[in-house]
Amino acid sequence: MFTRRFADYRANRYRSKGLDSSQLHLVHFLESVGIEGRTVLEIGGGVGELQLDLLSRGAATATNVELVRSYDAPAAALAEETGLSQQVHRLIGDVAVEPDLVAPADLVVLHRVVCCYPDVEGLLSAAGRLTRRALVLSHPPYSVAARGATGLINLGQRVMGRQYRAFDHDPELMTAVLREQGLTVSHRRRGLVWQVVGAVRA
Ligand SMILES: C[S@@+](CC[C@H](N)C(=O)[O-])C[C@H]1O[C@@H](n2cnc3c(N)ncnc32)[C@H](O)[C@@H]1O
Repeated sequence: MFTRRFADYRANRYRSKGLDSSQLHLVHFLESVGIEGRTVLEIGGGVGELQLDLLSRGAATATNVELVRSYDAPAAALAEETGLSQQVHRLIGDVAVEPDLVAPADLVVLHRVVCCYPDVEGLLSAAGRLTRRALVLSHPPYSVAARGATGLINLGQRVMGRQYRAFDHDPELMTAVLREQGLTVSHRRRGLVWQVVGAVRA
């Protein structure tokens, strides 16, 4: 699913159009918390365009943890083009199963990631533990219609013999996991496609 072709598409899209409106919404939440001088950890950050934007707004460093290597070359090219490659670190792994993979960061981002991962409690517990100041995530709507669409997507993947599956996770469960990690949910946006949850550590 997340092939080199997909990665090239994402990088070229960022080159021509910049961040999309859902990404900007996450950025604006983080701006309200404070970006200047902060360290950023993005889980499942793809080619890293969100991190580059946060760095250009004054973040100190950005670390990307991904499951797949297909983004690495386009991500390196993008970071080089923006002159920010010295501040970006990329790791391959899964924080949900390797808790010591990465150090805690001030700001933690998961954009369009929880819907690609089955164990949302494991993933968000790990992400919450790694959050020093604020965490922001996006997820698809949890309506009956949206869950039906996920079923159709998965059926299509199965028919095509692909391993990829999408997952619908209950937003109440996700926010409960963040609270268990000592975070306070301070922001929610119920968008048409991407719902955003922002949480802060007091
Ligand atoms: C739909 S893509 C989104 C990529 C990027 N955030 C974006 O919005 O363009 C989901 C990404 O999450 C990554 N992912 C899913 N679960 C993950 C995990 N536990 N740790 C790291 N990356 C993960 C996948 O490899 C995939 O690249």
